[in-house]
Amino acid sequence: MKATIIILACLLTYATCSKPSFQPGFRLDTSPGFKPDIFSNIIDHFNDDVGLYPQRFWYNAENFDQKTGPIFLYICGEYECGVNEQRQFPVEVSKEHNGLFVYLEHRYYGASQPFDNLETENLRYLTSRHALADIAVFLSTLNDLIVQVHGGEKRKIIVVGGSYPGALSAWFRAKYPHIADASWASSAVVNAIEDLELYDWQIFNSTSRSDAHTCTETIQSMTEYLDELLSGQDSTALEEVKAAFKANTLTNGDFAFYIADIFVGEVQYGKRTKLCEFLATLVELEDIEKFYKLAEKYYDPEDNKSYYDRHLMAKTEVIVPDSSRAWAYQYCTEFGFFQTTYEGIHMRSEHLARAYWDQRCNEIFGKEIIAQARETNVEFGALKVKGTNTFYTNGGEDPWIWAGVFDDNDALNQKARRLQGENCGHCVVLYNEEESDSEELRAVRKEIKDWLDAILYTN
Ligand SMILES: *[C@@H]1O[C@H](CO)[C@@H](O)[C@H](O)[C@H]1NC(C)=O
Ligand SMILES: *[C@@H]1O[C@H](CO)[C@@H](O)[C@H](O)[C@H]1NC(C)=O
Repeated sequence: MKATIIILACLLTYATCSKPSFQPGFRLDTSPGFKPDIFSNIIDHFNDDVGLYPQRFWYNAENFDQKTGPIFLYICGEYECGVNEQRQFPVEVSKEHNGLFVYLEHRYYGASQPFDNLETENLRYLTSRHALADIAVFLSTLNDLIVQVHGGEKRKIIVVGGSYPGALSAWFRAKYPHIADASWASSAVVNAIEDLELYDWQIFNSTSRSDAHTCTETIQSMTEYLDELLSGQDSTALEEVKAAFKANTLTNGDFAFYIADIFVGEVQYGKRTKLCEFLATLVELEDIEKFYKLAEKYYDPEDNKSYYDRHLMAKTEVIVPDSSRAWAYQYCTEFGFFQTTYEGIHMRSEHLARAYWDQRCNEIFGKEIIAQARETNVEFGALKVKGTNTFYTNGGEDPWIWAGVFDDNDALNQKARRLQGENCGHCVVLYNEEESDSEELRAVRKEIKDWLDAILYTN
């Protein structure tokens, strides 16, 4: 009887029939390597039925024990998803457990697009709450399918992620504990902070670890010079400095952000020592010469600065490999994470105060945007996410560390490890294992493995 009613309802309004599903006839392909595929997921999980969208995923079932093997879901975030060749440690761990390893693309990134353009109105379903619901629907459908085809109990599930997806993994375990058994949350930015000036402070702190402060001081003198130029003291010199980076179309603020991010990018990704060695060669030069040398070394002709240039980010066409507009929408609305100037340390321009970020968000999306970091923290719990079985790791030099968890919570089986070694940056434990890995890194990886064993092989 019930079925008849549903069918009738479907006939009346075709759109409301949309049911999330794999492609017709989908079965796990166990041949070697990762396979791309598509899952039809729900656009609006919470209110109206506005249909389905194609969500991409990649899976490797080569080593999968179809009767009992666990599922490792690697949550992709604010970028085009795919097999990440540099971050294969979780894949290795999955192999050791005869797991099924899956990467799932995040809605609105890459080709997982609910709409054919990114007009602000269309971005209303771009939230971490929807992303978590996507994961829930995907994983439960996958687990049901495996049980249906191969029998046995529901497989255990580990959700893995780094950075924003690290936060998603922790939140997922808390919100959907009946679906995932554990969260492996690397550099997880669970605490939404609107004015993240500690990000700027951390660059100061990390570069201070290099030789007798020359590194910090070189960045400071360059920042002070840039601020002189930006305050209109020498517009010819400013144009010349911008030209060295082919950045004349950038607003002054966007240019200051771009320059700050050159230093940040190196520190964040574990190359602080290399950056500082380079900056040490500039000490004797005139200020403007320092910028020319910086451009020679770090200007990338392939980079159209779409993460900085608000005019590019205001464009609404979907460009599969370019995620700048979608990520800006998420930080402008849900998190903040505005990389504001930490007063008095001169590690980035004074023009990057809060007003810069608010104005930037408003211009990119063509309407007033209000960051809702508080609401996000109310929803998920900030540093006190209540999911059990969560392993947090953070890199001591990573500027994102201030949005992360530092303390164990034994009652919840939450572990938190802060790696203090040299050049320890963002998402460091996820990278491929190397001969050169520090003892500290090896020890933390071993701890993660032992912790996972305990979760996978007890009830
Ligand atoms: C950097 O931070 C660490 C702790 O987070 C602290 O011990 C150290 O003194 C700081 N260094 C500077 C130069 O502020
Ligand atoms: C920016 O460059 C990337 C990488 O080359 C390219 O894929 C993308 O289409 C460009 N974005 C814009 C907005 O032009």
